[in-house]
Amino acid sequence: MSGNAGKSNLILVGFMGTGKSTVSRMLSESLGWPRFDTDEEVERRSGKTISELFAEEGESSFRDWESRALADVLSGTNRIVATGGGAVLREENRRVMRLGGWIVALTADKESLIRRVTAGNADGTRPLLAGDAEARVASLLETRKHAYDFAHAVIDTSRLSPADVADLLQRWLR
Ligand code: S3P
Repeated sequence: MSGNAGKSNLILVGFMGTGKSTVSRMLSESLGWPRFDTDEEVERRSGKTISELFAEEGESSFRDWESRALADVLSGTNRIVATGGGAVLREENRRVMRLGGWIVALTADKESLIRRVTAGNADGTRPLLAGDAEARVASLLETRKHAYDFAHAVIDTSRLSPADVADLLQRWLR
């Protein structure tokens, strides 16, 4: 990470369906850096799926699990960290991220997001999209319009494959 001294992790933030998890897997493989995913961390630590956590403990408890997982994974160095789409909502988390590394926001236009999340929401990690996923995406996008603005860099993935995004980031990091 020449010229980027002092920042030691690469943190991917962005709305659901922007490809954070897939891109993090690819980057981890090509850079040889270990990969962490806050959703997976929360599920592992709580012993519950994200949907179960939302249903049984409520969103704010899920956010507490998420904040703890985020702070812990960012205490390491040279890690690729994929975050849940709502991890940026708490100021405390944004602060931990700013201290923990380079933050890259993945974005995509509404149509691409709807296409991706409706194709892949069978895994139960997105209770916020339950019901009319299209309407939920539209309304959450509106609420979170500026939520990712604090990132150091932004990549619009609407017309890029996860491999293209990973490639871009890899070249940037070299
Ligand atoms: C959420 C996004 C999900 C997961 C949870 C809440 C959000 O992660 O953390 O369902 O608030 O945007 P992905 O962005 O990986 O889907």
